[in-house]
Amino acid sequence: DGQRLIKYNGFWLLEVLFRPMLSAQNNFKAKDTDVILSTMPKSGTTWLKALTFSIANRRLFTIDQSPLLTSSPHTLVPSLEFNVYWEQENPDLSNIPSPRIFATHMPFNILPDSIRESDCKIIYICRNPLDQFVSHRHFLLENKIGKEADPLDVDEAFDMFCQGIHPCGPFWDHMLGYWKAHLENPGKVLFLKYEDLKEDITSQVKKIAEFMVFPFSPEEEEQGLIDHITRLCSFESLSNLAVNNTGNINGLVKNSSFFRKGQVGDWTNYLTPAMAERIKKLMDSKFGNSGLMFKI
Ligand code: A3P
Repeated sequence: DGQRLIKYNGFWLLEVLFRPMLSAQNNFKAKDTDVILSTMPKSGTTWLKALTFSIANRRLFTIDQSPLLTSSPHTLVPSLEFNVYWEQENPDLSNIPSPRIFATHMPFNILPDSIRESDCKIIYICRNPLDQFVSHRHFLLENKIGKEADPLDVDEAFDMFCQGIHPCGPFWDHMLGYWKAHLENPGKVLFLKYEDLKEDITSQVKKIAEFMVFPFSPEEEEQGLIDHITRLCSFESLSNLAVNNTGNINGLVKNSSFFRKGQVGDWTNYLTPAMAERIKKLMDSKFGNSGLMFKI
């Protein structure tokens, strides 16, 4: 069952990712120039990978030669938990150009120490939990993972979600871990929301580039480079590429399952107002006056 969860340091982690995660904890040595993308599953990981890859490598190739046209964002930006490198004691990472970009679903307090202790940058993206829940359910169904091959009743799955029992949950603790780290050190942790990227991708891409200490020059802006990148990385563009329509990752998940609708508020088509009210109350009590919130 690909959905078995293990409780570790207060979080429900996917059993299949647990051993690689411990291995990354022991073996991954972050460099000061690294960029670590952190997310809960179904919060905008694929999009953020494509954007940061394009920002970091924009002087190496033009948009029409972008590796994103022929490789999945998940190949170009490897995940710490999936990476075979961490199975080795001293992995050879010498062929990865700087800045290296890696992704992880690990909660902030479980990250490899070197990520917190080095000067590397962390970019976190999260998403309205109602949309995240709906997206995750479809992801499981699409890939016929676990009990979802024979779907769990939506009420039961939602109830578990509200108890925090879902991959990398509870969502509030995952988000708050990075939110507090961002408040303490905004130069170290950038905190993004999927909804803000949907609303104004141009300003968010500029912000991400500045945070990566690789801001767009006035010439690049004049050439329309930000637009070119946002268009290349848009849902419409990426989801139509053959490489993202076919094949799978590690024989586990279909590439196409990372592209469903890419919309804000799709939960209204699947969940009841009462469910939304429950999430609202949960967020009020868990987020309190931390300053973190989502519009529902
Ligand atoms: P939906 O299921 O709501 O459509 P992750 O990448 O973290 O697994 O998240 C997947 C979600 O992000 C899916 O949401 C997917 O459609 C959406 N998505 C993927 N690529 C996107 C893009 N380029 N722009 C906007 N949304 C994208």
